Amino acid sequence: MKRFDLSGKLAFVTGAGSGLGQAIAIALAEAGADVACFDLAGVLGQAETSAAIVAVGRKALVLDGDVTEPASIEAAFDRAERGAGEIDIAVNSAGIANVSPAEAMPRSQFLRMMDINLNGLFWSCQVEGRRMLARGRGSILNMASICGSTAVPGLEQAHYDATKAAVIRLTKSLAAEWSGRGVRVNCLSPGFMTTPMNCRPEVAENVRKFVDMTPMKRMGQPHEVGWPAVFLSSDAASYCTGVDLNIDGGFLSI
Ligand SMILES: NC(=O)c1ccc[n+]([C@@H]2O[C@H](COP(=O)([O-])OP(=O)(O)OC[C@H]3O[C@@H](n4cnc5c(N)ncnc54)[C@H](O)[C@@H]3O)[C@@H](O)[C@H]2O)c1
Repeated sequence: MKRFDLSGKLAFVTGAGSGLGQAIAIALAEAGADVACFDLAGVLGQAETSAAIVAVGRKALVLDGDVTEPASIEAAFDRAERGAGEIDIAVNSAGIANVSPAEAMPRSQFLRMMDINLNGLFWSCQVEGRRMLARGRGSILNMASICGSTAVPGLEQAHYDATKAAVIRLTKSLAAEWSGRGVRVNCLSPGFMTTPMNCRPEVAENVRKFVDMTPMKRMGQPHEVGWPAVFLSSDAASYCTGVDLNIDGGFLSI
C-alpha cells in the first residue's frame, strides 16, 4: 500500500472550492498530501475544502486565480511552492457547464466555454508541466467527462462536449510528449455526479433520466472520483500515462 501513500507530496488542485475538485483535494489529503487549493477569488467552498484538509492533519493553502489567466496560475503556483515546497501532483478540475441549442448558441457562450474548459486547462498543464519537466518528475490529472466520448440524449451542450473531447485528446498528446521526461498525464471521465454543476435548473429535470440511463442506476458521489484520482496521482500508477479513466457507473459500457 506504500505506493498509494502520498505523504510528503504537495498537490495543486484547480476548481478546489466545489464539487469534484473539492472531493479530490480532500482525498489527496486523506492519502497524505498537502494541498494547494486554487479557485476563483471569493469562492466560499474554499474554506470548507481547506478545513477538511486540515482536519485530516495535512496542510492546506488557499489560492485565488482564474485559469483563463496563465499569469494568475503561475503566481499561485509560485506562492504554493514558496509556502510548502515543490509540487508533485496537479489536478485540473476547474470548469463550467451550461446548455443551449447549437443553432442558437451565442458566440460569447461558445467562446467562454472554450476559454475555461479547454484553454484554461491547457494553460494549467503548461504552467504545471514546465516546473515538473524541469525536475523530471510529476503527475498531472485532467478533468474530462463521459461527454467527451458520447453525446447524452436531451443535453444540448455541443460546446461542452467538444471541450471534453479535446481534453481527452490533449491529455494523451501531452502524455506522449512528456512521457520520456518523467511527467505522467492522465484524465478522468466522470459520468453523472452529485455536485452543484448538476443542480443547475436546466439539468434538474434530467437527473432522473441520467439515473435511468446509468447501468448502476444511481448518480456518483464526488468522493467516488477522489480515490481514482489518488490512484492515478500516486506511484501505484507509475506506468500509467495517457489514460482516460471512466468513472461513470458503467455509462460508457453500453
Ligand atoms: N459534476 C459532474 O457530473 C461532472 C461530470 C463530468 C465531468 N465534470 C467536470 O468536473 C469538473 C468539476 O465539475 P464540478 O461538478 O465539480 O463543478 P462545480 O461547479 O461544482 O466546480 C467547478 C469549480 O471550478 C471553478 N472554476 C470555474 N471557472 C474557473 C476559472 N475560470 N478559474 C478557476 N476556477 C474556476 C468554480 O469556481 C468551481 O469551484 C468540471 O471540469 C466538469 O466539467 C463534472
